[in-house]
Amino acid sequence: MTSPEHASRARGLGKIILLGEHAVVYGHKAVAGAIDRGVACEQEPSEGASRLRIPDWRIDVQVGDEHPVARAFDALLSAAECSKVDVRARTDLPAAAGLGSSAALCVAIARSLRPDLTGDALRVLASVGEECFHERPSGIDVALSCAGGIGIFTRSAGLHALACPSLPLVVGLSGVQRSTAAMVAGVAGRVADGGQAKAQIERIGTLAEAGQQALLSGKLELLGGLMSECHQALQDLGVSINALDTMVEVAGEAGALGAKLTGAGGGGAMIALAPGREPQVREALQSRGFDAFITTLGATP
Ligand code: PMV
Repeated sequence: MTSPEHASRARGLGKIILLGEHAVVYGHKAVAGAIDRGVACEQEPSEGASRLRIPDWRIDVQVGDEHPVARAFDALLSAAECSKVDVRARTDLPAAAGLGSSAALCVAIARSLRPDLTGDALRVLASVGEECFHERPSGIDVALSCAGGIGIFTRSAGLHALACPSLPLVVGLSGVQRSTAAMVAGVAGRVADGGQAKAQIERIGTLAEAGQQALLSGKLELLGGLMSECHQALQDLGVSINALDTMVEVAGEAGALGAKLTGAGGGGAMIALAPGREPQVREALQSRGFDAFITTLGATP
């Protein structure tokens, strides 16, 4: 295996969208940050076909297998001009939960295959893998996974770092896995049909715009309120589920300033902003049977 120094560099961070999911696909701003959980890879030469093992997600695939992870791995190997490698990944991110697990995996693999790449070159390589998971990703997950920090993301301008302190958040997991591609396609159908969906996309974009100002001026109560309103807009867009709504309610009762689903919805995770009351909110979620943890938005690679 590679040296521990190399292994520790071959990491991809998870991410949390504070405000702006789905609307970001339509060109609006999203406010998001990298978190202190992710994927780390080590690799060594392989005798036979290239192989990728992720024991934490019970994944063990070879190039050529009919599996989305195998297809992404294959695409990354081709783009990196590598073959016959044995990659082993470790992760503390839940899969398919809206926390950027596929992007973190692609960034970690890209870094392990091509430790010489940084910046845009690394982002472009990792995106080749991410595109195998999501049909039309905005690119926000890979950008944050590579760069870390907190930032504003738009499809046209990419990631713009925000100079603001890191932010503790409580994450609650619904335990329901879902596909981002399917959720994005569902929203696209409703937007094309006209009606309310388009208005909700606009509303989410406006909330993200206001969230950027609230974050920069440290107005956390305002930010919490915007998050809760964004959850309402995502509900109206049809991407929430009962477990997410319940967790948002529980977090509010336990003293959170605001809470919302994060990511594509349909399952996955919710986040709560509860300065100074994070352990109480986490415990309230756990007492209702949900997995929950405290994380920091704004982690650096
Ligand atoms: O993959 P997720 O659940 O973190 O969702 C990504 C956020 C979306 O805006 C729904 C899709 C995208 O590509 O930005």
